[in-house]
Amino acid sequence: MRLQDKVAIITGAASGIGEAVVRRYLEEGARCVLVDVKPQSDLARSYADLPAERILAVQADITQRNDIQRIVDISVERFGRIDILFNNAAVFDMGPLLDESWDSFDRMFSVNTKGMFFLMQAAARQMVKQGHGGKIVNMSSQAGRRGEALVAHYCASKAAVISYTQSAALALAPHRINVNGIAPGVVDTPMWAQVDGLFAKYENRPLGEKKRLVGEAVPLGRMGLPDDLTGAALFLASGDADYITAQTLNVDGGNWMS
Ligand SMILES: NC(=O)c1ccc[n+]([C@@H]2O[C@H](COP(=O)([O-])OP(=O)(O)OC[C@H]3O[C@@H](n4cnc5c(N)ncnc54)[C@H](O)[C@@H]3O)[C@@H](O)[C@H]2O)c1
Repeated sequence: MRLQDKVAIITGAASGIGEAVVRRYLEEGARCVLVDVKPQSDLARSYADLPAERILAVQADITQRNDIQRIVDISVERFGRIDILFNNAAVFDMGPLLDESWDSFDRMFSVNTKGMFFLMQAAARQMVKQGHGGKIVNMSSQAGRRGEALVAHYCASKAAVISYTQSAALALAPHRINVNGIAPGVVDTPMWAQVDGLFAKYENRPLGEKKRLVGEAVPLGRMGLPDDLTGAALFLASGDADYITAQTLNVDGGNWMS
């Protein structure tokens, strides 16, 4: 059990990668605070088979200032402390650069960048107060490594995650709080169903074609599955990563080399 008795907050816990990571952390002995903007009934349905005494489901929107502090307060109230933050919630959108809107920019940056940063800050304040170090894992993307003509805002919002990960790692190193990121490639989750639909619209393709093509282009020969991300999520949250900080690890079947 690599996370025995650790307390972990996981955002975006009702879907995709977040849901897979919750299951992995629970298997490894953690107590988990599951955060999602979706109703608690969605969270409850996803986790009906898991040990209720080690789970706290919180409906919260990480773009809301009050919700950020509420996530931290309620975690401490229920489990006494916070050891791990898996900072994973995000939204996707895309469109031709010349048509990109303020609204789309605001939506993506408020969740993917601002919400990510301020939840990291709030959790870190609690970890500093506790004085026992901690682990923060921020979800970036291969989209954060390189711009894309149709995906400008999302790419930029995820590049910012890599930069904040580096700055926070340096700021929090004296407190023995490790801050690292993960950059997935293409992962078969509900988010990718949306991505595929948007590529179909803007590249005039049949539905499903983009998804098939990106899967075939991965050096390891397929799209990732949510479970493919859980090994890195566990490693970076565990004591095995005590001497690793400020890194963003590519978990993408070989798509990106850095
Ligand atoms: N799927 C991919 O191909 C892929 C690739 C690279 C990076 N990622 C990143 O991995 C992470 C997880 O992606 P996924 O594919 O599992 O996505 P997903 O859409 O399946 O899950 C994201 C979850 O975040 C929640 N969420 C959205 N906005 C929120 C908010 N304001 N407050 C709280 N919760 C909110 C959603 O309700 C959803 O349950 C994201 O950061 C995403 O950018 C995904």
